[in-house]
Amino acid sequence: MFFTLRWHEGAVEFIDQRRLPHSIAIVRCESASAVAEAIRDLVVRGAPAIGCAAAYGYALAALAARHQPLPEFQQALREASAMLEASRPTAVNLAWALQRMARVAKESAATGNAPTGLAQQLLHEALAISAEDVSINRRLGEQGAALLPDPCRVLTHCNAGALATAGHGTALGIIRSAVEAGKRISVYADETRPVLQGARLTAWELMQSGIPVTLITDSAAGHLMAQGEIDAVIVGADRVAANGDVANKIGTYMVAVLARRHNIPFYVACPLSTLDSSTPTGRDIVIEERPAHEVTGDTTIRWAPEGVTVRNPAFDITPFDLVTALITEHGIWQPAP
Ligand code: MRU
Repeated sequence: MFFTLRWHEGAVEFIDQRRLPHSIAIVRCESASAVAEAIRDLVVRGAPAIGCAAAYGYALAALAARHQPLPEFQQALREASAMLEASRPTAVNLAWALQRMARVAKESAATGNAPTGLAQQLLHEALAISAEDVSINRRLGEQGAALLPDPCRVLTHCNAGALATAGHGTALGIIRSAVEAGKRISVYADETRPVLQGARLTAWELMQSGIPVTLITDSAAGHLMAQGEIDAVIVGADRVAANGDVANKIGTYMVAVLARRHNIPFYVACPLSTLDSSTPTGRDIVIEERPAHEVTGDTTIRWAPEGVTVRNPAFDITPFDLVTALITEHGIWQPAP
């Protein structure tokens, strides 16, 4: 089994998701700025995974500054945190993990701990965040698996799998847990333009696990729903606002509208760290705009005319009333009928 991210001999290592499925390459980051770059460049992606990555980045900044006096050490942590948080704006797990790290740093300094001890404690906290993520996903997976009929054909969008977390996955975690419970689950994976997380990552990850997967274009989803070939939709989330609106990969909103049209349950799998009570509604969520080149071509060819105007929002908002249930590690939330 592959790993998404791990601490190894003084640095954090990532499987390079830009190169999957063609090659399995490892990117090793020895500084907070290298981690921020890896997040920005999609070496590591998916809301929980970038939260875990940011925590390791924070720990790396602490280790690098551990021989400095406390005020300089604390200033280095603040700078690293600001840089890591700015690497991608939409997934709240990034800010959540950094706030948790900053809280530990503050509380530990208040007890008189010196920077060398603080840095070790921060590394332990980053390791704990990753370990907890896996156990949270397993609990979330069990909650969601119970909702699926047997057999069940599930449509998913983007990659909310082991590759998007420290392990097991959220949306794909539910599928994994249902398969482990003996249910006959097959998956339709939207290719997920423009970065193709579905085609490159979800298809690969499920094939690695021996879970039946069929790749479709994003535009085929409505047709398959109309043909009665999809029993449920499960997606992940990057941020859930206080009113339940869900930010997730661009195209999720279209899938939710289609699911409602065809009376197909639309489930959102999200750990509690993805819930953001400080953001009132989906309209208040910052949507990342990514570079035009992701839309105008791929790494080998440009297919759009030179000079064309491009919009490339990386996420969209699904209003809560289109969501059948939010599935968390602590239970299931449904919109009022
Ligand atoms: O741009 P990405 O690949 O980071 O977007 C990822 C998604 O939209 C996922 O669905 C979301 O982060 C949930 S991952 C468990």
